[in-house]
Amino acid sequence: MTGRDTRAVRVGTQRSAFQETSEGLFLTSGYVYDRAEDAAAAFDGSVERYTYSRFNNPTVTAFAERLADMEGAEACFPVASGMAGVFGVLIALLTQGDRVVASRHLFGSCYSVLSDILPRFGVVTDFVDGTDLEQWREALRRPAKAVFFESPANPMQEIVDIAAVSELAHAAGALVIADNAMASPAVQSPTRLGADVVVYSTTKHIDGQGRTLGGAILGADSFINGPVKTLVRNTGPTMSPFTAWVALKGLETLRLRVEHASATALTVARSLEANPRVAWVRYPFLESHPQHDLARRQMSAGGTIVTFAIDGGREEAFAAINALTAFDISNNFGDAKSMVTHPATTTHYRIGPEARARVGITDGTIRLSIGLEDADDIVSDLNAALG
Ligand SMILES: Cc1ncc(COP(=O)(O)O)c(C=O)c1O
Repeated sequence: MTGRDTRAVRVGTQRSAFQETSEGLFLTSGYVYDRAEDAAAAFDGSVERYTYSRFNNPTVTAFAERLADMEGAEACFPVASGMAGVFGVLIALLTQGDRVVASRHLFGSCYSVLSDILPRFGVVTDFVDGTDLEQWREALRRPAKAVFFESPANPMQEIVDIAAVSELAHAAGALVIADNAMASPAVQSPTRLGADVVVYSTTKHIDGQGRTLGGAILGADSFINGPVKTLVRNTGPTMSPFTAWVALKGLETLRLRVEHASATALTVARSLEANPRVAWVRYPFLESHPQHDLARRQMSAGGTIVTFAIDGGREEAFAAINALTAFDISNNFGDAKSMVTHPATTTHYRIGPEARARVGITDGTIRLSIGLEDADDIVSDLNAALG
């Protein structure tokens, strides 16, 4: 199996004795042993087998194998949500006194973990402008344990030069953690660009139909099946077998869905750019994106998210959002259905006005998640809503 599309539908499949076509959903919390000696052997490590679904489960393993293969990572540990992945990887790696260098262009909860939660445990984060290599270089003159970024970032689509930042981070002794939720594994592989660990919210494109909440941590076998596995096994943010089954089936169609939606997103971005009511548009594959060349080098398509600002403030943004009929108002993204979000009052509300201002999220900023509908329907709906 060499082709990526073949692998996306085949890797990880293990048929049960019933010879089913679709992968089995092993909705079980525990497993039985024929004899007490068999249970003892499973727990002392002399026999490898499934023991308890907080530790491992056949459906979760199938999903982990398929996603690791797609990402080009040695190992994958699925978890209960994208945030369980972000927090899990940081807490598995860091101890009191450690230093993190992170891009300040982050999803609200990722920012809160680094700025509010980890300092309580003696971990400090220095934030930099993730688009500015000089700032990364300056911050990484001092030793750091981890580097953390999103690229593209939610919602302003800033791009981090993953290869260059990874090189600087490695020279400073830091592990590079990339949150690839916005791009998805269909259009960008941070592992292949030099990142050590990749985190996904499978809630987004991997599920792709807005059904389940999940996450995944990918990286070297020694890290994933070492500190990450120990942490998740003992603290419990495990992915459920049902979620793993949905996500596993989502991987089969991921590339087709994300590439289709990305093509529509580019059309939408170009149309918005030509609209006189729009102040600016951010989309990685638009020529006007400040890091357009870098985005084209790192990503095979521009992704499904388009961010723009309406001429005006919150009132004008809310009026446009409420006038849309082809979009659902939601703070989620990566769904087959197109969604519209007002970041300042939802996903990035809690980080406060100052942090929003620093990354350029204005009251007129609107984020679109483009789905699988006809491009003409989406474009004409936006044109109508923007008057
Ligand atoms: C970039 C990014 N990382 C992580 C998350 C968290 O994912 P989840 O909602 O699955 O916890 C999100 C959610 O929107 C996100 O946009």
